[in-house]
Amino acid sequence: MKSRGRARAYANIALIKYWGKRDEKLVLPMNSSLSLTIDCFYTETEVIFRKDVDRDYFYLNDKLQGKDTTEKVSKFLDLFRKAAGLNLSAVVKSRNYVPTAAGLASSASGFAALAAAANVASGLNLDNRQLSIYARQGSGSAARSIYGGFVEWKKGSSHQDSYAVPIDDAQWDIGIVIVMVNSMEKLISSREGMKRTVDTSPFYKVWVESAEEDLKHIKIAIRNRDFKKTGLIAERNGLKMHAIMLGANPPFCYWEPDSLKVMQIVRQLRREGIYCYFTLDAGPNVKILCRLSESHKIKDRLIQFFDPDQVIIAKPGPGITIL
Ligand code: PMV
Repeated sequence: MKSRGRARAYANIALIKYWGKRDEKLVLPMNSSLSLTIDCFYTETEVIFRKDVDRDYFYLNDKLQGKDTTEKVSKFLDLFRKAAGLNLSAVVKSRNYVPTAAGLASSASGFAALAAAANVASGLNLDNRQLSIYARQGSGSAARSIYGGFVEWKKGSSHQDSYAVPIDDAQWDIGIVIVMVNSMEKLISSREGMKRTVDTSPFYKVWVESAEEDLKHIKIAIRNRDFKKTGLIAERNGLKMHAIMLGANPPFCYWEPDSLKVMQIVRQLRREGIYCYFTLDAGPNVKILCRLSESHKIKDRLIQFFDPDQVIIAKPGPGITIL
């Protein structure tokens, strides 16, 4: 057994959102989702199973982490230890690579890199499909970061068939401009936000049906490399996700005034013939799907209102890499 593994995984931006679990423990989603892996933000993680430590140690950006964060990592490593019949503690070292000091965190790149490194270190040698199933249990969106380009996470019917599949390498004129409106940690975690929405929002049932419909149409648009249609479906789907949160009890909203400002700028750009489309996740930052060839023009407009450090251009990114 090789007891050391090191891997890199990239973040992804959902164009059809995952919002809501049907099984909290196994992280089985209510609806299938689709994302684009991006190249500008990634995590590198090393896992070493060692005989000379009596508990797991987790360092993030060189800083030893406390009990709660380490426990999440330990629980995740237990999946690998159990499957490999391994009874050793681990030292895990992780580093997030972010283009600015914006503090953009991604559980997707984090758990995908951890899964890929643990896979090597435990000697399990799972294939990417199995790895996606493992990563999913760390954080749902991590299931998609196993692959590059456009990726679909199939909700499946059980634990064993809820995994991601690559659907297009995104090697066409596609990019994402990220506007960092606020890098503070969010007040309502996606886990908590999802649960509240599923439990209390009267719109939730409609969301599930409508997300499946959006997914069907965006896959056709991507297959046809129809950029405008892809963007329009993504923008609408994202807005619908935020609408169901407004219907929750108590209601909540991740947007900030600057998020709306960015949406306004995007709509204005479209009126001028620069086709681009916004989407927001469980936070105020805005991601703009655009033609990569027009990303600099879009950034130029945005920095009339925002600091250049707040505006990041991303290209489609690759899947996991073993280092
Ligand atoms: O993977 P989680 O539990 O952080 O949830 C991600 C939720 C969204 O980012 C809002 C949507 C998505 O599909 O990535």
